[in-house]
Amino acid sequence: MTSDIQNNQHRPIGIFDSGIGGLTVAKAVKAALPKEDILYFGDTARVPYGVKSEETVRAYALEITQFLMDKGVKMILIACNTVSASAKNDIIRKAGSIPVLDVISAGAQAISESGLGSTPTVGVIGTIATVQSKAYEEALIQQLGSVKVIQQACPLLVPLAEEGWIEHEVARLTVKEYIQAFDHCHLDALILGCTHYPLFTGLITDVLPSKKTSIIDSAESIAASAKQYLEEHGGFNTQGGLFNCFVSDRPKRFQELAERFLGQPLTKIDIVRDLENRF
Ligand code: DGL
Repeated sequence: MTSDIQNNQHRPIGIFDSGIGGLTVAKAVKAALPKEDILYFGDTARVPYGVKSEETVRAYALEITQFLMDKGVKMILIACNTVSASAKNDIIRKAGSIPVLDVISAGAQAISESGLGSTPTVGVIGTIATVQSKAYEEALIQQLGSVKVIQQACPLLVPLAEEGWIEHEVARLTVKEYIQAFDHCHLDALILGCTHYPLFTGLITDVLPSKKTSIIDSAESIAASAKQYLEEHGGFNTQGGLFNCFVSDRPKRFQELAERFLGQPLTKIDIVRDLENRF
């Protein structure tokens, strides 16, 4: 008997985020699965999510899920850590038979597979909403049983990345200030628990007190989980490779930033204006 995903293997993979940051996930998915079509949605009209309430983030996320379902995606990847923290279960319920993967579960799984030994100390950096939700802590406890989790919210890193100040002195000082929270913690691993943070990997590595701390990039982790899922369920596309973007506002600005994030030109960006009317 064939599964839903086998029947729908030529359909696109839907990836969504509060804005531009989820392109770090799209880039990792493109690298891991080059023959898949990708449909990316960035909620540029309502970004940032990381400072909003759980109820608001959940409502937005369900509207986007409906949009992706209307577009006929075969799988949904929640690229946004804040959405994964606030609305994962609601999205899974809404998506029904469409598989849903999220960056938090993928990051926790990557930690459990990285052989850190018993009761590792894991640092998590993320938005205020992600840190307050403790979703990473719960996912890590579920995967590892015993783990010490130390969290730090880094709210200024999202606007710095959006501004393109990735290697700017201000970014270096900001990263240093936040990472100081881990100065006496002997971290075995640090999870980059926000879409934008992989852009600061170089700076973070420079200021981390120990060079032995493994850096876990949730974008890489979810791309690996998606590949594993498609392998296990026979859902690979072997003929695709398209990359279509949809945004809720300012497509030109998205294009400028997206090309910087992806390091390649983007041609097709459509605007979606009626998200709220989809229920
Ligand atoms: N995409 C968000 C996340 O990964 C960061 C940007 C925002 O606050 O919306 O948590």
